[in-house]
Amino acid sequence: MERARIRVFDTTLRDGEQSPGCSMNVREKLRMAHQLDRLGVDVIEAGFPIASDGDFEAVQAVSASIQRPVIAGLARACTPDIERAWQALKSASHPRIHVFLATSDIHLTYKLRISRQQCLEQARDAVRLAKTFCQDVEFSPEDATRTDTDFLCRLLEAVVEAGATTLNIPDTVGYAMPAEFGQLIETIQRRVRGIERVTISAHCHDDLGLAVANSLAAIAAGARQVECAINGIGERAGNASLEEIVMAMRVRPDLHPYDTGVLSDQLYPTSKLLSEITGVSVQPNKAIIGRNAFAHEAGIHQDGMLKNPLTYEIMTPQSVGVPDSTLVLGKHSGRHALALRCEQLGYQFERRELDEIYRRFVILADKIKTVEDRHLLELIREAREQAQRIPPGHVGELPLAIAASAGAGQTRPSGAYFSKPLAAPLPADSKTCELPLSKVEQHSEQEDYLWGV
Ligand code: KIV
Ligand code: ZN
Repeated sequence: MERARIRVFDTTLRDGEQSPGCSMNVREKLRMAHQLDRLGVDVIEAGFPIASDGDFEAVQAVSASIQRPVIAGLARACTPDIERAWQALKSASHPRIHVFLATSDIHLTYKLRISRQQCLEQARDAVRLAKTFCQDVEFSPEDATRTDTDFLCRLLEAVVEAGATTLNIPDTVGYAMPAEFGQLIETIQRRVRGIERVTISAHCHDDLGLAVANSLAAIAAGARQVECAINGIGERAGNASLEEIVMAMRVRPDLHPYDTGVLSDQLYPTSKLLSEITGVSVQPNKAIIGRNAFAHEAGIHQDGMLKNPLTYEIMTPQSVGVPDSTLVLGKHSGRHALALRCEQLGYQFERRELDEIYRRFVILADKIKTVEDRHLLELIREAREQAQRIPPGHVGELPLAIAASAGAGQTRPSGAYFSKPLAAPLPADSKTCELPLSKVEQHSEQEDYLWGV
């Protein structure tokens, strides 16, 4: 199948920044913009210049120092905003003024208090004005998915005539369903005169958790630009997550035969940088870049992973810049992973000894969320002491002291996430070990599969 090129418009520094707790100063935006450039996005929306002096300076600084991508600045459909946006953008190698105006009756009636006709004229005049400064003008009809379709098409036709080069269709309130959003893009493509001269773009919010699905539906229907943000940050529930869109296309080219300019191994470093700058971390189970996206706790899964990562991973961690997959020791883990971690800590056990340690491990893991290295070392010590004191076959005391000392609700304790055995045993006081699982010596047994259940 022929592969179309999708332009990735990153709005982390504008819509993303509108997320509570995610605002960035000039220096931080500049740092992030350099990383977005390394990531390979096509457009960086650097801010909303009229919003504050800081945002103006940030757009100006990004425009002056980043050459390859298009740099966009947001403006409402009015003269002061457009002039201010241009002042901030004018030193960019590839500037774009992004003009928006709400078009739904709800917004026209309650927010803007203007008629549809006034709205159409304001949008058209704003694009005309922006065009006097800049060749590259994007127009967004805010709340497009709750806008009357006939009116939307008429308005879009007017802004195309006025010189808009990109028509961005925002699902501002995250209301659309994928099939419906795809149909809207098709309708626009069919009905708006002059549409073949412009790029159709999608901008989806995640209020119903459908932002990525809607973005992919829009692309399938003909959109060739997608607006998204790192870690999916943005107003309310956020914007479509850049990393999820890009990897959906990479992992399923059979259904999404599209290329982007994104270097996928920069996804994780970019996500980490954003979290570092904003202080807002992503949820552990976040697709692609969450702490658990390549972590395996269940025994069956760990066993499969040790035999062949294809069993439970649809992309390699390295392909998105995550150093490696990890195994986590918890109550669902099996003996295979336990033995592996013990080996990494410098202990190898006979079958019977491992059985005993595993028995103690399961009881402990039931009490605490994640078994850390220090717990494991204590278990090993207790099991060995008991084996010396008590004749074989006797069931010993459980390691309640460990359970009592372990804090509940801990997050990623050291040594809890681990990967491959080291060539040489670790000293007994070692805490962490995160080396590539890909180099694990394969020595699993069919039985481990059953044990891990
Ligand atoms: O969600 C939205 O409608 C927007 C526009 C400004 C594009 O962010
Ligand atoms: Zn938005």
